[in-house]
Amino acid sequence: MMMHSPDAGRGDPILNVRQLEVVYNRVATAVQGVSISVSSAEIVTIVGTNGAGKTTTLRAISGFLPSEDVAITDGTIQLGGTDLRGLLAHQVSRLGVVIVPEHDKLFQTMTVADNLNFNLSRRNRHIRDQVYHYFPRLAERQNQIAGLMSGGEKQMLALGMALLCEPTILLVDELSLGLAPVITEEIMSILRDINRDLGLAMLIVEQNAVAALKVASFGYVMEGGRVVFKGSASELLNHEDVKEFYLGGSDDATRSYRDLKQYSRKRRWWG
Ligand SMILES: Nc1ncnc2c1ncn2[C@@H]1O[C@H](COP(=O)(O)OP(=O)(O)O)[C@@H](O)[C@H]1O
Ligand SMILES: [Mg+2]
Repeated sequence: MMMHSPDAGRGDPILNVRQLEVVYNRVATAVQGVSISVSSAEIVTIVGTNGAGKTTTLRAISGFLPSEDVAITDGTIQLGGTDLRGLLAHQVSRLGVVIVPEHDKLFQTMTVADNLNFNLSRRNRHIRDQVYHYFPRLAERQNQIAGLMSGGEKQMLALGMALLCEPTILLVDELSLGLAPVITEEIMSILRDINRDLGLAMLIVEQNAVAALKVASFGYVMEGGRVVFKGSASELLNHEDVKEFYLGGSDDATRSYRDLKQYSRKRRWWG
């Protein structure tokens, strides 16, 4: 029987994570059997509630796992033909996988311009012009102390700093954190513009599933450290279960998505 494949038509992955497992303190498995991929010029999102394992997944990919208390215990992480597992954060970044972390992403006491200049080289000056083009508010506030800007402006600055690292794929962790929904949507739409203009691949991790799925072409739903659902962004946005549990359609917070997983499995696009 022919089965509809959720991944049909996505092209070859540039980032390919297979069966990732991450364990904290040798006992707590935060991520288990997670397989996700991002193709070139694609915006992919991982959505899920607090504690689902989204940040752990991104940090494992980017090499930002403090080695004393956390370890990748299984799986592969590949960028093109290169194995990223076991590389240090600066090595991963140099290969073009650049993360905008959830916290501590800028130099609070430095100006906007100095934050951007930190990653500036002779080679990437044109990118700073592009950053000011996509985020005109940063151009207007070049001499402002970064820590004194609004949450949305700080997020724009963090994205600008990441772009100056010349990513081939940009990883963005929870950019909506602490932002008004309208600001989140504004920044998401700028990311979509950048993706369209420059063909930059992005992996966007979000609790605000609607905002992320509006700009993404493909999405994964994580819960309890596992991918419980995947599909095109429009499939996820229109799927009854996903709507009910992740897009604000449910007023019964005690039910888990897992309760529905059993019958979800039988549906046409859940492989
Ligand atoms: N530093 C840590 N030490 C121990 N457990 C952690 C640590 N960071 C996260 N966890 C646990 O890992 C799981 C996944 O967390 P996280 O990846 O931050 O989820 P999300 O980003 O989806 O909110 C949670 O159960 C969390 O409590
Ligand atoms: Mg997180």
